[in-house]
Amino acid sequence: MRVLQTILFLLLFISTSTQAQSIINVHDRTTTSLNGTWKVLIDPYENGLYNYRLQPFDEMENPGRAAYFTDSKQRDKTELLEYDWDTSPTIQVPGDWSHQKDEFKWYEGTMWYRKKFSYQKQEGNNRVFLHFGAVNYYSKVFLNGEKLGENIGGFTPFQFEITDKLKEENSLVVYVNNNRKPEGIPTVNTDWFNYGGITRDVVLIETPGTFIEDYFVQLNPDNARELTGYIQLNGVVSDQEITIEIPEAGVKFTTQTNTEGKAEFTKKIKKLRYWTPEDPKLYTVNIHSETDLVTDQIGFRTIKTDGPDILLNGKSVFLRGISIHEENPYRVGRAYSEADAELLLGWAKDLGCNFVRLAHYPHNEYMIEKANELGLMVWEEVPVYWTIHWNNPDTYKNASNQLSTVINRDKNSAATIIWSLANETPVSDPRNDFLFELSKLARSLDNTRLLSAAMEVHTEPDNPLEFIVEDKLAEFVDIVAFNEYIGWYNGLPSKLENSSWKIPYDKPVFISEFGAGAKAGFHADSLTRFSEEYQADLYKRSITALQSIENLRGMSPWILVDFRSPRRQLTGIQDGWNRKGLIGDQGEKKQAFYILQEFYRSKASEKH
Ligand code: GCU
Repeated sequence: MRVLQTILFLLLFISTSTQAQSIINVHDRTTTSLNGTWKVLIDPYENGLYNYRLQPFDEMENPGRAAYFTDSKQRDKTELLEYDWDTSPTIQVPGDWSHQKDEFKWYEGTMWYRKKFSYQKQEGNNRVFLHFGAVNYYSKVFLNGEKLGENIGGFTPFQFEITDKLKEENSLVVYVNNNRKPEGIPTVNTDWFNYGGITRDVVLIETPGTFIEDYFVQLNPDNARELTGYIQLNGVVSDQEITIEIPEAGVKFTTQTNTEGKAEFTKKIKKLRYWTPEDPKLYTVNIHSETDLVTDQIGFRTIKTDGPDILLNGKSVFLRGISIHEENPYRVGRAYSEADAELLLGWAKDLGCNFVRLAHYPHNEYMIEKANELGLMVWEEVPVYWTIHWNNPDTYKNASNQLSTVINRDKNSAATIIWSLANETPVSDPRNDFLFELSKLARSLDNTRLLSAAMEVHTEPDNPLEFIVEDKLAEFVDIVAFNEYIGWYNGLPSKLENSSWKIPYDKPVFISEFGAGAKAGFHADSLTRFSEEYQADLYKRSITALQSIENLRGMSPWILVDFRSPRRQLTGIQDGWNRKGLIGDQGEKKQAFYILQEFYRSKASEKH
């Protein structure tokens, strides 16, 4: 039975194709923002999508004017129409709906958005794309009453070409549903708030008729004196000469695209100034085709492992990290802007970090761009979190789409050094098969970065103080990571004194989480739960205990800032917030912040 199940599963895996990829480096393209004030209609019974017999309007030849996406107006006073976009409430885009109206705070369901816009192309044969940074969770996009398509996944970009669909005045209507689904990625149960909405930028991208859609320009992982990568054109004039130029490095060379519009290259170069956290050097890279020019700021470095060591540009490095959710505590909502990225990553730099674990899903591009500028190495993750439906091929397809999309988006990011496949997923054969396939997909898309995942830990009855990390998943990844909560979910902090770990892999070990809750400003003795003193004591003891792990090469304690979670309802202390932040929801630094900061400063001064 098991063999048959595996064969079926693998056949289903092979059949899943990855979603069409989006244009990368959107911030350096010719764009027109559609951010700002949109109209909004709440629709818990999905009355704008189905008729009263639950027949979907968007699958009808003639959906009729009751469908919200037709953006119909009453033709005369006798017509019955039970919505009117022009008189509907307004909402800001980007931004989750939860923080924008009190009645939206806990809403999970369907919300409709509408934006009217006019657009004049700059050049006749140019093309126009509608690009969403992310929409959580399930979206259907309509332009002038016509369905452009759908997207599943709340944290990755998607786009539609609208070149031949633009009118003088356009009506863009977006259906958004953030209902949590058992077969989803993530599934129904998470420890973060399910912020729904158009949560990131919406832009129109104008490109030449044949344009540079995609490119990969990095150092050869096995030869730092060699550039390697490819350029991918999109358009009818596929065979073009391409010039790649890094002026400051005296690099300029040409290559030729093939009939599919693709050009692969390797180019010997003299030594570049490597990107490092201490010196986050970014080079201006100009990519010219005969019809397009794209400029990007790219850092060059190598990252690999050698036994227990993580080698950045050939030198062993210790990852002084912190975990971060994509949330601005002051807004009490999803982070989405450059200013939000500066706030969160500024705190991480203040803490003494050279690394951030962006939990538990791909963050917005400003976080990646800012990490490259500030010199913070990055762990990026797809929300394959907890009890995923491992046997469902649609669930795998969803996870593989999200992973391939974030790899495609950030593959030129020097700061991004780790793709994480999962977090705390219960061990089973279907789970191992699922993650093995996901690891192969990641390596096929990008063989220049490391793979990891927070894997499972267990103890044997005869030795409850020896924590064993023996997980099949460790064989698929480069860095063995795990979360440990000794002293919070498992005994009291004093338990750490006698704890030890058994991790039988000749690979780097990374503690992806440890921590404790504390209400900022609540002071008591170090055994009083949720006091700052308890959290500080746990940090002191954890830092000491974890250094007994021989292959330890980094950590990202949980978590930089308190964040909203419906799982945390202790009145007066949590009030719907997870309080494990080193910083409170009003920006207050707790005692433990300074404990970790002192440790990181001492680590930074060590010579590896
Ligand atoms: C888990 C999980 C986090 C969660 C944390 C906690 O390890 O990975 O997402 O928030 O523990 O319980 O606070």
